[in-house]
Amino acid sequence: MSGVTVRVPAKVNIQLAVGGARPDGFHDLANVFLAVSLFDEVTVVPAESLTVTCTGPDAAQVPLDGTNLAARAATLLAERHGLAPDVHIHIAKDIPVAGGMAGGSADGAAALLACDVLWGTGSSRAELLEICAELGSDVPFSLAGGAALGVGRGERLTPLEVGGEFHWVFAVADGGLSTPAVYGEFDRLTAGTGVPAPEASPALLEALRAGDAAALGAALSNDLQPAALSLRPSLSETLEAGLTAGALAALVSGSGPTTAFLVKDAQTAESVARTLLTSGTCRTARVASSPVPGALVV
Ligand code: C5P
Repeated sequence: MSGVTVRVPAKVNIQLAVGGARPDGFHDLANVFLAVSLFDEVTVVPAESLTVTCTGPDAAQVPLDGTNLAARAATLLAERHGLAPDVHIHIAKDIPVAGGMAGGSADGAAALLACDVLWGTGSSRAELLEICAELGSDVPFSLAGGAALGVGRGERLTPLEVGGEFHWVFAVADGGLSTPAVYGEFDRLTAGTGVPAPEASPALLEALRAGDAAALGAALSNDLQPAALSLRPSLSETLEAGLTAGALAALVSGSGPTTAFLVKDAQTAESVARTLLTSGTCRTARVASSPVPGALVV
């Protein structure tokens, strides 16, 4: 076999309910993930040693060393089976980088699945999900796709029913925001306030089940948004620009700085994206729909 390619989607968090900091430094979450139609393709081929390359509009921002989640995924799987992780990993990147859309997590999940097929290690779905959770809190969802509620760190998933197609615009900001820094700012902003235990919103889950975009728009929430806006105040101008352009609702995606706009249909997505692009409040704007499947061999 010459190589294996896996296609893997980005995500948006349509609800991110965050509890207080745990003793291990992580936060308990009720994290409602939705996979959206922006994809990376990860190809693994046998090689003399583990190497990573990346192409795509944001490729220069992707680390190519052992910290890349795709490289870590190959290493973890190889260790489990007493193999050497001698593969070349190529990432054809279309998911915005450093943006709260789980692009790095997506590549981790994709490389794991690709190596499992290339090496014939035959991992069960449960084993793959366990390795994904070791790689990062968002990685299991990148493997699973569709829609899911993540609890714990966000890694313990329950699939959710989605009753229709939802349309989105994503505004990509210049420069990243560090996820640990955003959680740290959340801790600072909520210090002494008694953070409640995170719970999924019944209204949000019902809107998702019904495929009702207006109801979903009214129920979107992200507890990290005040922290992301505190660290990057200019994001409120992007949110405002998208709402003025006709989005049903706007929120920061995950820990940001990407902002997500729910719109009523594909045509509105195109016009909101055009207006956002010319607003000068973001670097680029992308349209996408949801839900889409998780990591799949192509
Ligand atoms: O799991 P992952 O490596 O993606 O997490 C990155 C960072 O985000 C963690 O080191 C932690 O600071 C923060 N985090 C958190 N609570 C979570 C998930 C992530 O505090 N549930």
